[in-house]
Amino acid sequence: MKKLYPFALCLAALSAQAQTNITIDATRPAADISPDMWGIFFEDINFAADGGLYGELVKNRSFEFPQALMGWASMGQVELADADPAFKANPRYARITKGESYRPAGLENEGFRGISLKKGETYDFSAQVRNASQRPLKLGVELINSIGRTYKTDTLTIAPAAGWQKVEATLTSELTDPKGRLRVLLLTPGTIDIDHISLFPTDTWKGRKGGLRRDLAQSLADLSPKVMRFPGGCIVEGTDLANRYQWKKTVGPVEERPLNINRWNYNFSNRMAPDYFQSAGLGFFEFFQLSEDIGATPLPILSCGLACQYETGEEVPLDSLQPYIDDALDLIEFANGPVTSRWGALRAEMGHPEPFNMRYIGIGNEQWGEVYPERLELFLKQLRAKHPEIMVVGSAGPLPQGEQFDYLWPEMRRLGADLVDEHYYREPEWFFSHADRYNDYPRKGPKVFAGEYASHDYENRTANTYLSALSEAAFMTGLERNADLVRMATYAPLFAHVEANQWHPDLIWFDNADVMRTPNYYVQQLFANNPGTRVLPIATENGPEIYTSATLDEPTGEVIVKIVNRTAEPRKVKLNLKAPKGKTYASGTHTYLQSDDLAAQNAVGEPEKIYPRQRPVKISGDGEIEVLPQSVNVYRLR
Ligand code: AHR
Repeated sequence: MKKLYPFALCLAALSAQAQTNITIDATRPAADISPDMWGIFFEDINFAADGGLYGELVKNRSFEFPQALMGWASMGQVELADADPAFKANPRYARITKGESYRPAGLENEGFRGISLKKGETYDFSAQVRNASQRPLKLGVELINSIGRTYKTDTLTIAPAAGWQKVEATLTSELTDPKGRLRVLLLTPGTIDIDHISLFPTDTWKGRKGGLRRDLAQSLADLSPKVMRFPGGCIVEGTDLANRYQWKKTVGPVEERPLNINRWNYNFSNRMAPDYFQSAGLGFFEFFQLSEDIGATPLPILSCGLACQYETGEEVPLDSLQPYIDDALDLIEFANGPVTSRWGALRAEMGHPEPFNMRYIGIGNEQWGEVYPERLELFLKQLRAKHPEIMVVGSAGPLPQGEQFDYLWPEMRRLGADLVDEHYYREPEWFFSHADRYNDYPRKGPKVFAGEYASHDYENRTANTYLSALSEAAFMTGLERNADLVRMATYAPLFAHVEANQWHPDLIWFDNADVMRTPNYYVQQLFANNPGTRVLPIATENGPEIYTSATLDEPTGEVIVKIVNRTAEPRKVKLNLKAPKGKTYASGTHTYLQSDDLAAQNAVGEPEKIYPRQRPVKISGDGEIEVLPQSVNVYRLR
C-alpha cells in the first residue's frame, strides 16, 4: 500500500528532526568534470541488437542459423542450397518450387517473438532472388496477423535472369498486431532461389533505410549520453576466440557480414535463447554513426586475445597477437583515418567520409591474471607509438574488489593505462554504503571508468525497482564529487526485450511495439542532463542517509545541487551556498524523482509510475528547503 504524508504528519516529522546542513562553496570551483562523464553501454544481450535496436523484423533472414529454417515455416517444396550463392559470407539460400497444382509453396517468418505491424505504417520488403527459368515468375509478399490471416499482399514479377537480383516492395499494413508475420509465396509454377529476405519499418531512426528502431534510438538520445561504450561486455571476448566480436566482420554491405552465434544464446543454462544470433546488421559503422547522432563520444572495446575467462579462457600466444593489435590500429584508421587510407576509404564508401573523432579504445573486457597485462602491454606499445592521441582503457577485472582487482590496479599503473574500467553489480545497500568509494583513491595514475554498474535488488527478483534507482543515484553523487578521478560512467546493461532476456535489471525494456524507461533510466537522465563543468566543494552535516554533490555549470553560470534522501521521512535541509560577490543563486528549477514505494517499477505498455517532475524553486534567505522522502533531487540555481 502507498504511504501517505498528510501535511500535519510531514510537519511533525520535520520538526522532530534536526536539520541537515549542506554547505557549498561556489567561490572555489574545483576539478573539471569530464565532458564524457555520463554515458551508455551497449551490448547485444537480451535481444538488444537483432530483435531490438536493429530495425530488421525478419529473423534468420539469410538462412545461416545452424538450424537453417529456424524462424521460418515452409510450405510445399522448399530446399536449402549454397551453390553459386548471392553472398560469399552468408552462402545459404532457399529454393522454392511450385508445381502445377493448387498447393502453395513458400516461407513464413515469425520475426523476433512476432513482427510488430501497425495500421497505416509502411514496411520496406526486400530479397535477393534468382529465376533461372525461361519465364517470369510471380512472388507474393504478405503481411499476416498472429493467427495467419492475410492483411496485405503485394505481387512482384521476377524476370528470368541467370544471376541474382534484388527485389523490393513497400507494404502498408492494414492491421495492428504485435505478433504479425511475413509470408513469401511463389504464385506461379516454377523454381525460385531466394536469400536475405528482409523487412524493415520505413519509419526508422533518422529515416535511414535498413536502419535502427526509431523509438529505441530515441530513448538513447533522450538520455543525452556523452560516451557510448560498445559492443559489450562478454560478447567482445566470446566464449572461445572464434566466437569473439570481430569488428572487421561487421562493416561493409550487411549481406556480407557473417553470422555469429550470440554467446547469450546459451550462456545461462536456465535462460537459453536458441534463436539468438548476431547478424551484425548493427555493426561498427552503425555504432559510430549512432554515437555521433546522439552526441556521445565512441568508446569501442576490442578483444585482447583472451576468450571469456569464466568459459574457455582460450589464450592467443603472445607471439601470435599481432592480428589482434592490427584490429585495434585498423579500427582507429576506420574511425579517424583519411579517406585515402584503406579503412578510411571503407568508412567513406559506407557514407561517412568525415572522421568519427574516436578518442578512446578499450582493450579487453573483464580479464584477469598475468595473461591480461602481458597482452595489454603489447597493445599499448604499438598504440602509444602510432596513436598517442588515443586514450586506452584497461580492465580491473569483473569484481569491484578482491584479489584480482588488487592485482590489476597496480598493473594498470605500471603499464600507464589512461583509464581503468571497474564493474560493480551489487545490492542496493552496497551502492548506498559505497557512495564515498573514491574519496580516498590515489589521484596519480590512471583515471576511473565505471564501465558497468547496476544495483541488483535481489529481494525484488533483481527488477528495476525504485530502490535500485535510488541507491544508484546515491552512489552517483559520489562519482560526481570525485569527478577529478572518475571520468566516465555507464550503467549496464542497456536494453532488454520483455520476452527474450538473459540478464536483469536493465536500463530500458521493450517489446516489439513499445518501450519502457525504468526508474534507473530517469536517474541516469537526471545526472546526464545536469552534469555541470566543475566540481564544487560540498560538506553535509547531520545528514545520515542524505547523499549530495554540487557542480558549477560554467556556460550558464548555474549551480547544480543534487540531493538524494533515502529515508522514508521528508528532510529539512539548510543550504548554505557561498556565492561569489554579486551572485545569490536564489531561484531556479527543481527536478526530482520520488516514490513512497521502494518496490515500484515501470512496466511496458502501462503508464509510467515513476518519472521526473519539475517545478520552479526559490531559496529563501535562510536557505531552508524541504527534501521529499525517498527522492532524487536536482536543483539548478541561477
Ligand atoms: O552486462 C552484462 C555482462 O556483465 C557483461 O557482458 C559483462 O562484461 C559483465 O559480466
